[in-house]
Amino acid sequence: MNSPTSGCPFSGGNTPASPVTKSCSPSDCGPLPVTHGNLLDFPRDPIACMRELYNQHGNIAALEQDGTRLYFAFGPQYNQQVLSDPKSFHSRFFAIRGPKNSAQRRLTCGLLSMNGEDHKRNRRIVMGPFQKRSIETYCGSLAGLSEQMLEGWRPGQVRNIFSDMTHYMLRVTSSILFGFDQTELAYSIGEKTERWVRMNHDLGMGSMLPNARNPAEYEQLLTQADALEAEILKMIALRRASPTEGNDVLSLLIRAHDDDGAKLTDNELIGQAAILFAAAHLTTANTLTWTLFLLAQHPKVAQELFDELTGVLHGEAPKLEQLEQLPLLDRVINESMRVLPASSYSQRTNPEPMDLGPFHLPAGSMIVFSQFITHHMESLFDQPYRFMPQRWKTIEPSPYAFMPFAAGPKMCIGASLAMMTIRITLATVWQRVRMSVIPGANINGLVTSTMLGPTTGMPMLLMGTKSPYTNSWVRGNIHDLVQLDWPESQRAGKSNVA
Ligand code: HEM
Repeated sequence: MNSPTSGCPFSGGNTPASPVTKSCSPSDCGPLPVTHGNLLDFPRDPIACMRELYNQHGNIAALEQDGTRLYFAFGPQYNQQVLSDPKSFHSRFFAIRGPKNSAQRRLTCGLLSMNGEDHKRNRRIVMGPFQKRSIETYCGSLAGLSEQMLEGWRPGQVRNIFSDMTHYMLRVTSSILFGFDQTELAYSIGEKTERWVRMNHDLGMGSMLPNARNPAEYEQLLTQADALEAEILKMIALRRASPTEGNDVLSLLIRAHDDDGAKLTDNELIGQAAILFAAAHLTTANTLTWTLFLLAQHPKVAQELFDELTGVLHGEAPKLEQLEQLPLLDRVINESMRVLPASSYSQRTNPEPMDLGPFHLPAGSMIVFSQFITHHMESLFDQPYRFMPQRWKTIEPSPYAFMPFAAGPKMCIGASLAMMTIRITLATVWQRVRMSVIPGANINGLVTSTMLGPTTGMPMLLMGTKSPYTNSWVRGNIHDLVQLDWPESQRAGKSNVA
């Protein structure tokens, strides 16, 4: 298929097929919307691949190599069909499952890979700690952690904000999931989980190619899984030793039980703890980084947000009830998650043969749906590649048109916690410092294991709160993902830096 930078990402509708892509014409394979290419193009650069399929074929398409097809379903109608019918569309987890009775197998048995009654039972239990009244108790701790992060920040520093947000979210996620009293062990579980997620991705190219396994790397993955599981078990033992204390998620899960009084077993707790960490940490860190980047690149919005925040919060971290008084903050977050959704696609598989659009799918096919493609449909969002928070004053997209946390019975259970974390962090940071992307910085975004994150860091200059907001010309494939402007004064300098 084409390179990520080919074609115009901002053209919206169906751009002509690129000359290097061999696409089916009705005469050689009927009217089916199929592109023949390399299946590896998808995990290598999911957004470029999906965009090309969408531009060529519209809302339903397949990528085929040697008779094997990946199916792609885009837009609200297909999203609803795929996401609201968990009997016909099962989860297909990104990680490698590992041998029976291995740590790798137990770690990949969390909610995200569950289906049917098992999923329903576990979800009912795991949902408990994520109910509004439970997560609200974390508000003060989140404010404290964001203040703590800012302690070392000074005007004049150049900081890699992505690295800052990743470390900060390791701290936040480990504390919320495992408690504030075992910080070292909790943080170590977080670091090991992060490494384990990356190894799963690198090894299996997002589980798309089980045959691409390199035996030595596979052994390393299993060893990493053993080490991670050992630490989670240690934490479970510590929490079991004080069964009535602790409002961390793990303690709440240990105390929780289903309608029949059955509790989660250690094996179930291992799977749920691993997936909760993996699902929470980088998605939130990426969203925070992208939002700070988009704000820094849009000075007018940046100033308006600063005014809203300081008007209500007067420089302090927000209290729970104040979060309801910050409408622009919510619009900024929505718009950031629309333009650069941390979760950019996900996948399902069909346990039985079925029809989807014009295709007849054999059982076990892989079906991809995509937030990124749906969020950038011109029919749903005017100028979809532009960051325009004010659009949220007038639009109210359906849950299948705007779905940063997906939708239906497998929708993210951490959505409210994630939103509270993002709101508190942005509100605190944005009042204390101004930041500007280093002019000419190389900013790139790529999807790894379904998550869209910055791959070459996010270098920002910190400034005092009296400095004017200024956007910067930047390099990199970020220009394929969002339509940015930069000041006239930097236009001439642009070619020098490149
Ligand atoms: C900005 C941050 C986040 C984003 C963008 C996000 C996005 C998503 C999406 C799109 C899904 C559905 C995946 C699918 O259907 O294949 C999902 C599922 C899930 N998320 Fe999140 N998530 C975020 C934060 C969190 C947090 C903070 C937690 C928990 C601490 C969490 C826990 C989960 C779990 C357990 C599932 C699986 C639910 C199920 O299968 O029933 N997520 N998330």
